[in-house]
Amino acid sequence: MGLALTELTVSHFRSHKLARLSLDGRPVAIHGPNGAGKTNILEAVSLFSPGRGMRRASAAEMTRRPEGLGWKLSGLLRAQGQNFEVETWSEGGAARQVRIDGKAASQIDLGKLARIVWLIPSMDRLWIEGAEGRRRFLDRIALSFDPSHAESSLTYEKAMRERNRLLKDQVRDAHWYTALEGHMAETGHRINTARLASLDHLRAAQEQAETAFPSAELELVQTEGTMPDTVDDLREALHESRFRDLAAGRTLVGPHRSDLYGVFAAKGVPAKDCSTGEQKALLVSLILSNARALAGMVGAPPIVLLDEVAAHLDAARRAALYDEICALGAQAWMTGTGPELFAELGERAQTLVVTDGEAGSVVRA
Ligand SMILES: Nc1ncnc2c1ncn2[C@@H]1O[C@H](COP(=O)(O)OP(=O)(O)OP(=O)(O)O)[C@@H](O)[C@H]1O
Ligand SMILES: [Mg+2]
Repeated sequence: MGLALTELTVSHFRSHKLARLSLDGRPVAIHGPNGAGKTNILEAVSLFSPGRGMRRASAAEMTRRPEGLGWKLSGLLRAQGQNFEVETWSEGGAARQVRIDGKAASQIDLGKLARIVWLIPSMDRLWIEGAEGRRRFLDRIALSFDPSHAESSLTYEKAMRERNRLLKDQVRDAHWYTALEGHMAETGHRINTARLASLDHLRAAQEQAETAFPSAELELVQTEGTMPDTVDDLREALHESRFRDLAAGRTLVGPHRSDLYGVFAAKGVPAKDCSTGEQKALLVSLILSNARALAGMVGAPPIVLLDEVAAHLDAARRAALYDEICALGAQAWMTGTGPELFAELGERAQTLVVTDGEAGSVVRA
């Protein structure tokens, strides 16, 4: 039995006042009209992994209005052949907390238990918008392979913020920079290595799979210059860049300047120049490769959240997606406005219907 949420209680979270769900591990097909509260359920599930969830919202934004008291999610997570009681909550908009089996836990602890990956509508523009979104996408994938990736990113960003402050303040005294650049070199190198390893995992998973989705050639590129590939070289590059960085008022070398470049392999066309549907299919393909690679690596596929994906695929691709999800054995949570979008799944999925009621969203099995 793979990774799955088997019980979920959503309390005072966005449009949901109280929803109690029992899940049996099959994929979950959620349908209902616009604004009913479907995506909010997926967002709740995404908070069973580290970070701010799939909308990157603050704890305060997720608090049900107008009450504004705070929110709580509790679930029974089946992972590594065991059941874990996981609770995460925020009081009055304060940073969220986590408890596993009644004990205070960190988000990294959560990451070790639950690997959760997602595709949401705003990613439709991933290939054509800025590098930041693609870096974030790749970093979620890296985090799924290596839960400590989040820590590297946080440490790197903190050191960089401090270095950028020195640059803005036109501080020239070398000793202020040395220690920060040392931290940045170490964590930056770790970030880069984890990203490259993720691309290798994805490539291997793409090669091995028989899939109806197009494969992507992926490459990590640098906005400018090159990314030094040892800790010492990165430290050296940061040192050498000080003068230029002082002029720019920010750090110009490092993994925060990397970008994910994708090509639709069969056509040799850069992802950004592909059709809307092709770009979407590439993303689905990457998420499925991520799931396959994880299944091979940790023995179970991740929980997969697919918000409004079905609506953007033609019937043949949709059926192929469902077949691949079922073959993987992943608990995929999918949303759509009507049941017809999930017809090809039949009994292979569990259905939830969400409607907008008097006292907020109502969820029925
Ligand atoms: N903090 C909050 N408190 C109360 N309601 C909220 C809060 N945040 C969002 N909502 C409301 O939740 C409702 C449902 O949102 P959700 O995104 O889940 O809809 P959906 O069912 O996915 O709809 P669609 O099919 O349009 O994507 C929206 O009407 C939104 O205004
Ligand atoms: Mg939605």
